[in-house]
Amino acid sequence: MSIIEEQRAATGHDFLERSIDSVDKEIADAIRLETQRQNDTLELIASENHVSKAVLTAMGSVFTNKYAEGYPGKRYYGGCGPTDIVETIAIERAKKLFGAEHANVQPHSGSQANMSVYFTVLKPGDTIMGMDLSHGGHLTHGHPLSYSGRDFKVIAYHVRQEDERIDYDEMERLADEHKPRLIICGASAYSRVIDFKRIREICDRNGSLMMADIAHIAGLVAAGLHPSPVPFADFVTTTTHKTLRGPRAGLILCKEQYAKDLDRSVFPGVQGGPLVHIIAAKAVAFAEAATAEFREYQAQIIRNAKALAQAFADTGFRVVSGGTDNHMFLTDVFAKGITGKDGQNVLEAANITVNKNTIPFDTQKPMVASGLRLGTPAVTTRGLREPEMKTIAGLIARVLEAKGDAATTEAVKKEVKELCDRFPIY
Ligand SMILES: Cc1ncc(COP(=O)(O)O)c(C=O)c1O
Repeated sequence: MSIIEEQRAATGHDFLERSIDSVDKEIADAIRLETQRQNDTLELIASENHVSKAVLTAMGSVFTNKYAEGYPGKRYYGGCGPTDIVETIAIERAKKLFGAEHANVQPHSGSQANMSVYFTVLKPGDTIMGMDLSHGGHLTHGHPLSYSGRDFKVIAYHVRQEDERIDYDEMERLADEHKPRLIICGASAYSRVIDFKRIREICDRNGSLMMADIAHIAGLVAAGLHPSPVPFADFVTTTTHKTLRGPRAGLILCKEQYAKDLDRSVFPGVQGGPLVHIIAAKAVAFAEAATAEFREYQAQIIRNAKALAQAFADTGFRVVSGGTDNHMFLTDVFAKGITGKDGQNVLEAANITVNKNTIPFDTQKPMVASGLRLGTPAVTTRGLREPEMKTIAGLIARVLEAKGDAATTEAVKKEVKELCDRFPIY
């Protein structure tokens, strides 16, 4: 120990240097458990991913110490030089990645990104239109349990029963009738290409503004593998932690004409100080997303989702809408005699993580659900490809068909472990 280190230890001022193990063993152990869980689990939750160590490093950086209310060059706090560098880089990278006129990189989450847009253009009592939650939309698109369903008059559009694809004719009919101030598109559980151009046309017929929430498909859009809403929508919101593979956070893109009002809505309208460490991690993720390697990763996500959906259908399970164009799909497990809730639980026991999900026109309550949602962003990150998707479909089908039979679960869990060991994450 140096003299300075000895002095700090004697006065207790070495607390800054102590390891998490010596300070808080319980949390240190929980982090180790989670690392092991992720390594030993096939992560098929469509909204999850494994970020790079570069992203993790930025998130764990000293920028967490900094208050920086305001925007680059216009802060309420001193000492924001390095922060301004980070936020300016993040903004420029986001604009370039998506070809947008303006970017706000401060939203703490997807929900707060959406709230900030609503605060920018809506007044209480305004009419908004969003996709019904049980047909694939998101809570923040007007569900009564969310802030978005409280202060606005909400009109929901749906998918068609016959092919389970968005019913743009219904959307047009409803918009013509109700003249919504804002039409929200984008989904949490929809496996088909979204026709942003058609939605813009519906908005234009009715003087509606358009918001596209690309939280799920942002990585595909950045890679040019799903049509971009940026040329069509007044506002584009996204999370940064799903296919985009960045930190858990949000991002808003918009036309220049809304820039000032939007920035004011984010801060001070909806949020306080930005999470500069998270903004730093977003900047890193945007740099990663601009590479050819990332484009290939996104292409593999889609190939894997198609392969998994096909192999799953081959085992006799119905895939909603008959397949997928993106990173995920829904399957109707109730048709095979097991609820989504039970399906999720028995798969978890075999170290395969999925989430129960309502399917369009579901007969079950949301907490029970007829479906499972399966997505490939995370397993693709760890290197799995089409042959492994076939294997996984077989493993899932075995567990679901055995309805939690202990011997089957144990046998599948062993095979999952062997597969995971071949594709370590960190
Ligand atoms: C389409 C969509 N929008 C918004 C969100 C909300 O994001 P967050 O959980 O970061 O608030 C989600 C999250 O699942 C989503 O799927």
